[in-house]
Amino acid sequence: MSAASWIAAPGVPLRGDIRVPGDKSVSHRAIMLAALADGTSRIEGFLEGEDARATEAIFRRLGVDIETPAPGVRIVHGVGIDGLRAADGPLDCGNAGTGMRLIAGLLAGQAFDSTLVGDASLSKRPMRRVTEPLARMGARIETGEGGVPPLHVHGGAPLTGIAFDNVLASAQVKSCLLLAGLYADGETVVHEARPTRDYTERMLAAFGWPIDFAPGIARLRGGHRLRATDVRVPADFSSAAFFLVAASIVPGSDLLLRRVGMNPRRTGLLHVLRLMGADIVESDAGEEGGEPVADLRVRYAPLHGIDVPEQHVPDMIDEFPALFIAAACAHGATRVTGAHELRVKESDRIATMAAGLRALDVDIEEAPDGATITGRADGVGGGRVDSHGDHRIAMAFAIAGQRSRGEVVIDDTANVATSFPGFLELAQTAGFSLRNG
Ligand code: S3P
Repeated sequence: MSAASWIAAPGVPLRGDIRVPGDKSVSHRAIMLAALADGTSRIEGFLEGEDARATEAIFRRLGVDIETPAPGVRIVHGVGIDGLRAADGPLDCGNAGTGMRLIAGLLAGQAFDSTLVGDASLSKRPMRRVTEPLARMGARIETGEGGVPPLHVHGGAPLTGIAFDNVLASAQVKSCLLLAGLYADGETVVHEARPTRDYTERMLAAFGWPIDFAPGIARLRGGHRLRATDVRVPADFSSAAFFLVAASIVPGSDLLLRRVGMNPRRTGLLHVLRLMGADIVESDAGEEGGEPVADLRVRYAPLHGIDVPEQHVPDMIDEFPALFIAAACAHGATRVTGAHELRVKESDRIATMAAGLRALDVDIEEAPDGATITGRADGVGGGRVDSHGDHRIAMAFAIAGQRSRGEVVIDDTANVATSFPGFLELAQTAGFSLRNG
């Protein structure tokens, strides 16, 4: 629990031309693959957030030399696929589920033992989703009681590829198994009825590992090598999402977001906001580091409630806190279903958002897999909310404060630095009325 808090208040229309920081998912993976490659890779646009830095620190402790010539830049001197060496103690993933689950897959294939630990939030998150399939591959991993961290990964266990059905629609689980598959005998195949983000697959291909993938399937075999390559990290759509919603709900807003990562497995919120009536225009579509990017211009538009199509859920899994705020400021009811996974994110995002919205006088009914929010076009009431140390909940309520009938105080905001360092300052430049409390 951190003492940091913010005060948000209704302010002026949001305007300007901004670029949000680098993508968290891509930053984690870039460090991992560059560390295991033959040769030196340069990463640009690396997210200087605590989550990605925790992953970087872990690879340093596993013997990888990583230079920081400038903020957002890393030069990684890869040690080769079998070049990691044992660390001298537990490896701390901080707040990052992505870090822990992906690194667990890689460590399962090493010759040495490792222990992965995390902060209070990560220490409550479910790990059997990765340890069980890894055990089917031959890995030996112990979890804490109830299947949570710490993870004790025993090295030296020979791995064999498996076929796995990714029923949770988790990119972390898929990625963990593919990374373990680099060290496995035979083929590792992941099938998905609901496709998830494919950064691991794309980046393995960019580092020269033979891999077949398409939405719904990824397959690779062990026994190859990774070749160093340069990576350009696009701006994180999930960070842009807060500004997309904020400008959509604050009358008079007109905001330009530059070079946002537009991987279709990430942009579900864009479709859903447009169904609600949002005015978001894409321009200058291009590519950065093999990923689609575009500028997004978002202008205020009155929103209306919808039933969120379940097909979009995996493609917007991190955007529900922001969506709940859009729904609270929309005319009529918005219904979210099929989103059980929100219960096991950095906090229980259904419960945390429901408690916060109720504190702001918003009508919300919880369901096990979602919620129904009945919005008011004049926004939310004033009040005090607790983010429970969840970065995305804190930022979501910072937006809500811009379309409120009174001041919104948000407690426990320090973890915003895990994914979006400098959020407060960037939001202020866009016109947010937001300050430290
Ligand atoms: C991520 C996958 C998602 C997402 C997380 C990052 C990734 O988690 O919520 O923020 O980088 O693979 P799940 O795959 O567990 O849904």
